[in-house]
Amino acid sequence: MSPKELVQLAEEFGNPLYVYDAEKIKNQYLRLTDAFAKVESLRINYAVKALSNIAILQLLKQIGSGLDTVSIQEVQLGLHAGFTPDRIIYTPNGVSFEELEEVAELGVQINIDNLSVLEHFGAKHPTVPVCIRINPHVMAGGNANISVGHIDSKFGISIHQMPHILRIVENTGMHINGIHMHTGSDILDIGVFLYAAEILFDAAKNFKELDFLDFGSGFKVPYKKDDIETDIEELGKKLSKRFNAFAKEYGRDLTLAFEPGKFLVSEAGFFLAKVNVVKQTTSTVFAGIDSGFNHLIRPMFYGSQHHIENVSNPKAKERFYTVVGYICETDTFANNRKISEIKEGDILAFRNAGAYCFSMASNYNSRFKPAEVLWIDGKGVLIRQRETFEDLLKNQIPFEVPVALEV
Ligand SMILES: Cc1ncc(COP(=O)(O)O)c(C=O)c1O
Repeated sequence: MSPKELVQLAEEFGNPLYVYDAEKIKNQYLRLTDAFAKVESLRINYAVKALSNIAILQLLKQIGSGLDTVSIQEVQLGLHAGFTPDRIIYTPNGVSFEELEEVAELGVQINIDNLSVLEHFGAKHPTVPVCIRINPHVMAGGNANISVGHIDSKFGISIHQMPHILRIVENTGMHINGIHMHTGSDILDIGVFLYAAEILFDAAKNFKELDFLDFGSGFKVPYKKDDIETDIEELGKKLSKRFNAFAKEYGRDLTLAFEPGKFLVSEAGFFLAKVNVVKQTTSTVFAGIDSGFNHLIRPMFYGSQHHIENVSNPKAKERFYTVVGYICETDTFANNRKISEIKEGDILAFRNAGAYCFSMASNYNSRFKPAEVLWIDGKGVLIRQRETFEDLLKNQIPFEVPVALEV
């Protein structure tokens, strides 16, 4: 999207504002399916947690995606968006047994990542097919918080506990129809995927009636021009070949599944915010915007570096800025960043604002969550309105302070 189009959207819908480019989402989806075109049965389950607006889910449904969910609420959003239960997989961690049962009752594929839960579920519902999330003990991911397949991680059942898994399966007579792994996010080296895939293939040999192998996600996307990214095409070539060979050896039709979040929506997203103040101090020039980590927490939470462009004045001479928010604590989006000269009132566009941005937004400092717009066929369509004061009060119960408390 061009700087001019982004500024026009900020003028039309106000700011701060999230904008998602529908065409980019579609192209990323097609890039992935093209890369794995040699696999007969491929299933892409979009990870709803990345961005859960109903319009985005509908768009992904339209282009052929399924959904990966982590809570019953995400399952309900998916059903609301028109997905049938058989197009949804549910991969929770640490949820209540009742929630797991409720989701299974809806006809959604469940994925279990805990031995005690597996045993309990198998004993109670032996006929419900279950996928098992394996922890392959592979250290991968761009940040400690998003590396989830290593030995200290709370996710998955250890690959070393396979004998125990098999005992539970035998004792309960339950039906395991899939196995799954997800080692982390922002994985650059395709060797890591291929190495972990071998562990999953080995694990798969223990089950006779699998329908699918789920390789999770974790593809690294570029955050700025010429940035490094996972080589999806190369991974597609190598993993497809290996998967097809394994499926032949396994002797049964197998589906290869992925559950990408970032890969599908990260680069499609822009976050637009207005510069309220430019403040020269003894050490830097701050550009203070009308937002904060309440709306975009990734830089403070993960140290992620979102490319920032002054779309109001993209051709101006570049200067160095520290871009900060309006929150009442340190709230830095970027340090010492080269951006075209900023004036108060300019609109800054943050790139890669599609994944884990709006979905992690909060009302901290009692601010409204931003509006969301889908950019489709050359125009912006409002897909979530900006919150209002009523939204802040919506679930609060008016309270009469007892007279006895008066001083
Ligand atoms: C189990 C699982 N699957 C898929 C994803 C999506 O990962 P990404 O956004 O890196 O594609 C995550 C991310 O947290 C996850 O935990």
